Amino acid sequence: MKKLILSIACVSFLLVSFTTKENEKLSPKFQTSIEKGKRLFKKNACTGCHQEQMKVVGPSLKDIAAKYTSKKANLTTFLQGKSEAIVDTAPSQVAMMKASLSITKRMKAEDLKAITDYILSIK
Ligand code: HEC
Repeated sequence: MKKLILSIACVSFLLVSFTTKENEKLSPKFQTSIEKGKRLFKKNACTGCHQEQMKVVGPSLKDIAAKYTSKKANLTTFLQGKSEAIVDTAPSQVAMMKASLSITKRMKAEDLKAITDYILSIK
């Protein structure tokens, strides 16, 4: 019985400390723009077509970051629908990304900056 109580206590302690950690991460004070961008990227289902290191449906974030960095192109402008695709320019691919652009076009400037910071941070 003692053992059982002890393990329950342990588990609850672990749970509490994990949740506190998660909350800390989510509170603005502990969150960098990159972390916020990563969260928004997941929340808006971008991860369904983009992974960090590997091409799935869309290009990997690593490839997007490399292209935008080497061309000194503006990623935020693309997400605002104000500049053309430069990573994968095949019309069928561009068309697939179009639906998501209607989401990013409506985002607040600071959220777009966070997504841009996140994508460009992937190496
Ligand atoms: C249905 C699949 C799909 C989803 C969901 C999706 N993308 Fe894409 N994305 C693509 C494809 C395919 C391309 C390649 C065509 C292109 O480059 O425009 C692409 C390209 C891109 C590019 C590179 C643009 C360039 O210059 O070529 C960025 C940046 C990007 N996506 C960001 C996002 C973000 C942010 C989201 C979430 C709001 C998102 N994508 C959701 C399929 C998707």
